[in-house]
Amino acid sequence: MNILLLGSGGREHALAWKLNQSVWTNPLYIAPGNAGTATCGHNVDLALNDFEGIGQFCIGKKIEMVVVGPEEPLVNGLYDFFKSNDALSEIFFIGPSKFGAQLEGSKAFAKAFMLRHDIPTAAYREFDASSFDEGVQYIQQQSLPVVLKADGLAAGKGVIIAYSHIEAIAEFELMIHQEKFGEASRKVVVEQFLDGIELSVFALTDGINYVLLPEAKDYKRVGDGDTGLNTGGMGAVSPVPFATASFMQKVENRIIIPTVEGIKKENIDYKGFIFFGLIKVGDDPWVIEYNCRLGDPETEAIIPRLENDLVGLFIATAQQRLHEIQINVDRRKAVTIMATSRGYPGSYEKGYVIEGLRNKPDEDCLIFQAGTKEEKGQIVTNGGRVLCVTALGKDIEQAVHKSIDQLATISFDGIYYRQDIGYEFL
Ligand code: AMP
Ligand code: GLY
Repeated sequence: MNILLLGSGGREHALAWKLNQSVWTNPLYIAPGNAGTATCGHNVDLALNDFEGIGQFCIGKKIEMVVVGPEEPLVNGLYDFFKSNDALSEIFFIGPSKFGAQLEGSKAFAKAFMLRHDIPTAAYREFDASSFDEGVQYIQQQSLPVVLKADGLAAGKGVIIAYSHIEAIAEFELMIHQEKFGEASRKVVVEQFLDGIELSVFALTDGINYVLLPEAKDYKRVGDGDTGLNTGGMGAVSPVPFATASFMQKVENRIIIPTVEGIKKENIDYKGFIFFGLIKVGDDPWVIEYNCRLGDPETEAIIPRLENDLVGLFIATAQQRLHEIQINVDRRKAVTIMATSRGYPGSYEKGYVIEGLRNKPDEDCLIFQAGTKEEKGQIVTNGGRVLCVTALGKDIEQAVHKSIDQLATISFDGIYYRQDIGYEFL
């Protein structure tokens, strides 16, 4: 089967690595990819917003399956573009419609969806310029801290947790009147702060049925001990020790089943991943956010644990046969640790030669590249998050040690990684 995977991060290298193991895959293309995905298939120089170019490529190469890694093309309607074109509409497409992708692309849409389907989430209201004064009043009535969210996509930066009403109102003003996050913050969701520990749960749905993938916990802060600035994610562990069978049963009953039922009832075209950003408050799960894709770096921790053939899973998704599928998971613990460029998540330089990538990794270790590219026969840094090492072990501690030992064999100017991923579980 001719397959095209879209994206260029560590998530896509992990997906490409897994897709490439399938008996169905031949050949695999990745657009635009990175130096890591190039070892699993053919990189293609196509931009993710170039729908025409992607469509032409699919026709030219007789692509039979498209798998979308990041949210942006989905939120912008790549699915709908394919379905409305006769030459593309039969291609198996993994990712939701533009309407369904609003679960990630619009916080207000996601909150209203949860309310309609009785899915536990923080109390909230949404405001825009026309209801600005009401918004100020509402904020003043909230207990602290209070959470403000830009409605649209804001590159992971659109959430503000304000510890005083003055700060909250100032931020609210910046978001609505000064368009702090551009178009994305013309509408703002104001919601109650939930105090607990977060985890990421992933389902693959065909719009009627779903399968549950391994869960993970990611580490968003740049510094050890969860300090410093927020990043795209500095590491992840899977499974999550506090996600016990009884907790996960609540997650399925109260959140996953009502979400998939909601998608079905509302006739939303959704064949793809649902990422549930959850928070455990006491013993109960609440939804912080939905994403319409897999997480990064969670994917790099969960995909190596998944024993099923990924293309087989996607074919079943496209054919709405997921109820026939049983998911098998490697019982070992996976830890992934991300190596970043000096300065990340602030400004950083690119183009430093990466040494150590050509060596075969240690047993039970996988190296997934993120911000890398090949230049004159060498692999050089090309982003803030450069690469990660996933290690599998009998426990988290062993996996962490293996990952750090492997990272020690890799070098580039300014390499940095957290030493304490998984610390609360050791
Ligand atoms: P999001 O962009 O929706 O993932 O939000 C970013 C981060 O803000 C989340 O990972 C949480 O740590 C935090 N957050 C968002 N909403 C809430 C909430 N209602 N209560 C507490 N923390 C929140
Ligand atoms: N690691 C969180 C995300 O992918 O959004």
